[in-house]
Amino acid sequence: MDLAELNRVATAMVAPGKGLLAADESGGTIAKRFAAIDVESTETNRRDYRELLFRSTKAMHDHISGVILFDETIRQKAVDGTPLVKIIEQAGAIPGIKVDKGAKSLAFCPGETITEGLDGLRERLAEYRELGARFCKWRAVINIGSGIPTYDSISSNAHALARYAALCQEQGLVPIVEPEVLMDGDHTIDRCDEVTELVLKTVFQALFTARVKLEGMVLKPNMIVPGAKCATQASDEDIAEKTIRVLKDCVPSAVPGIAFLSGGQADVEATARLDAMNKIGGFPWHLTFSYGRALQHAPQVAWSGKPENVAAAEAAFSHRAEMNGLATLGKWTPDMESTIAQRS
Ligand code: 13P
Repeated sequence: MDLAELNRVATAMVAPGKGLLAADESGGTIAKRFAAIDVESTETNRRDYRELLFRSTKAMHDHISGVILFDETIRQKAVDGTPLVKIIEQAGAIPGIKVDKGAKSLAFCPGETITEGLDGLRERLAEYRELGARFCKWRAVINIGSGIPTYDSISSNAHALARYAALCQEQGLVPIVEPEVLMDGDHTIDRCDEVTELVLKTVFQALFTARVKLEGMVLKPNMIVPGAKCATQASDEDIAEKTIRVLKDCVPSAVPGIAFLSGGQADVEATARLDAMNKIGGFPWHLTFSYGRALQHAPQVAWSGKPENVAAAEAAFSHRAEMNGLATLGKWTPDMESTIAQRS
């Protein structure tokens, strides 16, 4: 393991003005997203859509530091035969790969899951590195509800994340450590705050036990938000302030950067809240985005599977990437949503 190289990659992933594109939807998830725009989920359609994103030069070159891929995509070639990984590299972005095998029911813990994929992981990581990946992602899912999360789900998922992260670093790959506390349900923002704090403290304890080098990783957490069905919603400033407070309490300053998931927040909400955090400032890590839905919803709708819509989809993606890039600097304002969109 070359820690200086891991730190170099982790730092590049969270470079100011840039963030990560999460394009690692599993077969089931991409089929759901395509169904919403009336597109059949065939291998060719998935390739065409992702090629469109990766060839969006302005977004990729100026605002995307890296792309998280799914196993199928890291092996795919563009229409002209160029591997998609090469197209990402040519845009100056770093290819990464989702390596977990999904969240499965956790025995004796109804409503909770454990993320699987550790068996054989060392060999899979070595192959992904050969294919061009320089970082990985593993997502643990924590659900809030009546009587949950249990300590079993939190500690089992933290343990799996730590074993995954250590294997990644051993193989020369930067782990994105993603413990996602879901925003499904009617819980309050304070409940999200309390659960996220327990989850992050447990995860960092497990990372320490597994001897993971914090300088060579990126944390991908949820923001502190109320449940989507909670009667009392919160302001962007409140969310930003609470999120920073929990992170300061839980995340050592050796971690180079924190890249948030969007988790079902609306596009502009996810941008506004990231921007609000960076406007507050005063923390030791770079705060950026690793958005899936909040970056891709607009281009997916614009594309809708039609070749004649490729330019409109590229423009929609570039716009969201630019807005989020500005939010990493605390330089976004709501009026840019319309003025910059008109300019392009
Ligand atoms: P969302 O931004 O859509 O939550 O996706 C990010 C991600 O990679 C979840 O694992």
